Amino acid sequence: MSSPEEQAFRLLTEYSNGFMVSQVLFAACELGVFDLLAEAPEPLGAAAVAARLGTSSHGTELLLDTCVSLKLLQVETKTGKALYQNTELSSTYLVRASPKCQGNMLRYLARTTYLCWGHLTQAVRDGRNQYLEAFGVPSDQLFSAIYRSEDERLLFMRGLQDVWSVSGRPVLGAFDLSPFPLICDVGGDFFKDPLPEADLYLLARVLHDWTDERCSRLLARIHRACKPGGGVLVVESLLAADGRGPLTAQLYSLNMLVQTEGRERTPAQYRALLAAAGFRHVQCRRTGGLYDAILATR
Ligand SMILES: C[S@@+](CC[C@H](N)C(=O)[O-])C[C@H]1O[C@@H](n2cnc3c(N)ncnc32)[C@H](O)[C@@H]1O
Repeated sequence: MSSPEEQAFRLLTEYSNGFMVSQVLFAACELGVFDLLAEAPEPLGAAAVAARLGTSSHGTELLLDTCVSLKLLQVETKTGKALYQNTELSSTYLVRASPKCQGNMLRYLARTTYLCWGHLTQAVRDGRNQYLEAFGVPSDQLFSAIYRSEDERLLFMRGLQDVWSVSGRPVLGAFDLSPFPLICDVGGDFFKDPLPEADLYLLARVLHDWTDERCSRLLARIHRACKPGGGVLVVESLLAADGRGPLTAQLYSLNMLVQTEGRERTPAQYRALLAAAGFRHVQCRRTGGLYDAILATR
């Protein structure tokens, strides 16, 4: 049995090494390790992986064995030779051909989000996102900072779709949406463009990008467009009532700090925003997944 002090040190080490774990995952995806192993007719040795990826044999062996410890790969030894193949986790979520592949989101996290997080200390000092610090891009125009190029925009959108392919279903099943036959998935320049007619306006992963003031403006626009009996379905990661948990929602909230103008919110904070915009009957449902649902009607 380790002492409480040793356990505390182990936990501290786990936290401080957390970024290394992310980087192993990002690098293995970027290099195409999981796709190669999925396409190979049989498990491959490190030398074969290195030869096909054009990587160093030393680095590849270290990466593959670390992936084994992280349960991203499995290894078997045959006649003294280590042979690697995907685990169920990597086959489902990391292989390009899988319908649940998260590869675009992982690439986006590695190329953009991770770099903004490198400036978290400064973000906390300044209370604003770090596009200027990470990419030299002024952040007062959020749209041009987030979508810095067409490639960047497409990668982000595909990444959002990756996550939705796994986490969308529980959200859409949280409420009976049959009273709303025509649903408008609100996107584009919703602060300016006229909103189309619909029974339900879906605001998925939008409000967390914005300050309370901008959320109020957007919700007031949607309320004006909404017919009596119509509604709005907000999809976000809900914080606990006191704002202190769950950890994933808190990390997402910090992510909003480093990448946007917004934050994640508690049910009471969404209720207040929706009520101020004129919506009634606000219901919040936690799904147990990444995203939760809030339905409000006019
Ligand atoms: C995080 S995405 C969510 C997209 C989609 N609802 C989903 O869940 O996958 C944010 C959306 O806000 C829209 N948007 C409107 N104005 C924006 C702005 N100034 N900056 C960033 N995004 C903006 C984008 O076009 C995009 O559709």
